[in-house]
Formats: sequence, structure tokens, C-alpha cells
Amino acid sequence: MPSTCNVVVLLSGTGSNLQALLDSLQADNPVRIVAVISNRADALGLQRARDAGIEARVLEHQGFAGREAFDAALTDLIDQYHPHLVVLAGFMRILSPSFVRHYHGRLLNIHPSLLPRYKGLHTHRRALEAGDAEHGCSVHFVTEELDGGPLVVQAVIPVQSSDTPDTLAHRVHAQEHQIYPLAVRWFAEGRVCLGDHGALLDGQPLPACGHLIRP
Ligand code: GRF
Repeated sequence: MPSTCNVVVLLSGTGSNLQALLDSLQADNPVRIVAVISNRADALGLQRARDAGIEARVLEHQGFAGREAFDAALTDLIDQYHPHLVVLAGFMRILSPSFVRHYHGRLLNIHPSLLPRYKGLHTHRRALEAGDAEHGCSVHFVTEELDGGPLVVQAVIPVQSSDTPDTLAHRVHAQEHQIYPLAVRWFAEGRVCLGDHGALLDGQPLPACGHLIRP
């Protein structure tokens, strides 16, 4: 990895994970966010980017004939910035296999559950309905299997008997803001990469659950 790691962030909404990344960029951090791209013009995350002096771009999906056409245009836009890493931070689009293959090994996502549990939506409600004692969030490399790529890091928190989906979401979100900057920094430092059989940290295979953090 060169001395700086160019990162493009894709988002569709609030962008609190983008903000956590921005807030983590002290002088010794090799991460350099070169652009933020949203498929929604009203995404608050775009304003966060502008406030930080970062290029904010909009590519609305509605104008395209289909997923492949949008993803091809998105690839063209992203690649204008020559990123070493593309970070999905609440990007509410399913990505086509060709897009995912194009960024193989340099595409990270964050998901609000302890994968492989609760892929998809409504993760907090589903964890509560299942009576889980623990819940959390996961950073993983993106592969063609939705929410199924090799895990880099998970934060595990206890579920409390008084929890509602909202209270749980709030605590999980706070953990997302810790583990995403950590995983992105590890990637930027060349400590984390995607090997043939899964994610590696410092050259060693990570366990299937990734690096576990229990705050
Ligand atoms: C997060 O919960 C993340 O896990 C999911 O999308 C949400 C984005 O939140 N992929 P924010 O826009 O970063 O606040």
C-alpha cells in the first residue's frame, strides 16, 4: 500500500459512518477520502463531505435502464478518483456481480448485525424477536453473496431485557463508528487484505467471525 490510501465512500443517507471516518483522520492516518458519492441528492452525508472539503457527487439511479447500466456508470465515476479502497457506508443499493468483481479485495461494507446472522434489513428487530443475548455489527469484504463476504471485525454488545429496536440500533450504531474507522485504517496500513481463503490480518487468517471486539 502506498503511503496514502485513496478512499471513495458510497452512501445514500445520514452518513454518520462517514462522519466517524472523517473524525478518525488525524495526521498519522494514511486514509485519504477523495470523494463521497450518493445515489440520492438529499443524502445528509453529502453535506458532511462538503463541510469537510471533500468532493460530493450525486449519481441518481432512477435515470438508468437497469442495475447493470447504473453500476457501470457508478464504476466510471468511482474510477475517476483512482481509489485503493471503496467503502460502502449505508449505500442502499444491491450491487451487481460485475461491480463487485471489479472491486474485488478493495470493497468494504458495514452491516448492523453479527453476520452471518441477520443478513438484509430489520436486523435489530430480528435479533430481539429471536431472543438473542448478544447483538452487534460487522465489517466485511464485499463479495457476490449479499452480506456474505469475509469478515474483518465485529463488535459484540449485550442485549438488555429493556431493549427496543431503537435502543439497540442506537448502541450498535455507536459501535459501528468505532469498528469502521479501525477496519479502514487497517486496510490503508496494509494490515488487512483479502486472501484466497478469507480475510487476513497481519498476514494471518482471521477467524470466520473476524477480529472480535467486546467493548
Ligand atoms: C448503518 O447502520 C450501516 O450498518 C448500514 O447502513 C447504516 C448507515 O448509517 N449499512 P449512517 O448513514 O452511516 O448513519
